Amino acid sequence: MSLSSESLASALSRRHRYFPRVDSTNDIAKAWLLEGAPDGAAVIADEQLRGRGRLGRTWHTPPNVALALSVILKPNASLAARINMIGALGVYDLCEQVGAADVGIKWPNDVQILGRKVSGILAESTWSGEQLFGIVLGIGVNVRADFQATALNNTAINLEDFSDSRLNRVELLRFLLERIDHWYERIASDEVFMLWKNRLNMLGHQVLVGDKEGRALDVTRDGALVAELEDGERREIHAGDVFVIEADRNFE
Ligand code: BTN
Repeated sequence: MSLSSESLASALSRRHRYFPRVDSTNDIAKAWLLEGAPDGAAVIADEQLRGRGRLGRTWHTPPNVALALSVILKPNASLAARINMIGALGVYDLCEQVGAADVGIKWPNDVQILGRKVSGILAESTWSGEQLFGIVLGIGVNVRADFQATALNNTAINLEDFSDSRLNRVELLRFLLERIDHWYERIASDEVFMLWKNRLNMLGHQVLVGDKEGRALDVTRDGALVAELEDGERREIHAGDVFVIEADRNFE
């Protein structure tokens, strides 16, 4: 079953819109949100021409080889920071479902297998003054992309590397959306935060924060990373890149 309007219509019971090719599913979902899309509606594409990543980066989605979706969610504003966690937990479950071992969440919300990135998440909020209108949870997952001739060859990985047979992207999308629903129903519970925290693969490790070394100590309930820098400063990091520079799992 290949990705098409028909296959998705029979596999998904939620409101969704499918496009063979778009600039960015997040942009389409944001426009749909403003037009009144229901909570849980999804935009799915086979190919993205201008997929967007965190920190202004681009995200490549060639045809036939990946998942690219954006889910429109309308949580209570106080729980907005948990939407990234919901996305990462859903993708983590998907990785385990296809048989991948050594799955981890690299703070804040990249999902990795064997330390390589299999998925990126970009959650974008729309506010109407003080009121949260909704959040677009954008998720890209590598299924069978060819990274060989790219700069990502040593840092990216595909779900299909863990499967003996060709994976069906319709089935993957159905499972992923079910898991997102599962975690979204529990968004207010401590379970979401604790599981996201326990699945992070950075805590206790030496890390590079900007040009400073430090140790990743903890995360706050709104998703910030707490690091102790080499000069003793304890810093809460809300956005940006943090890299592990040494594996040291003995740190308490
Ligand atoms: C990152 O790792 O920097 C986040 C990448 C997020 C990519 C997804 S693909 C579906 C959705 N549409 C976009 O334009 N971006 C997100």
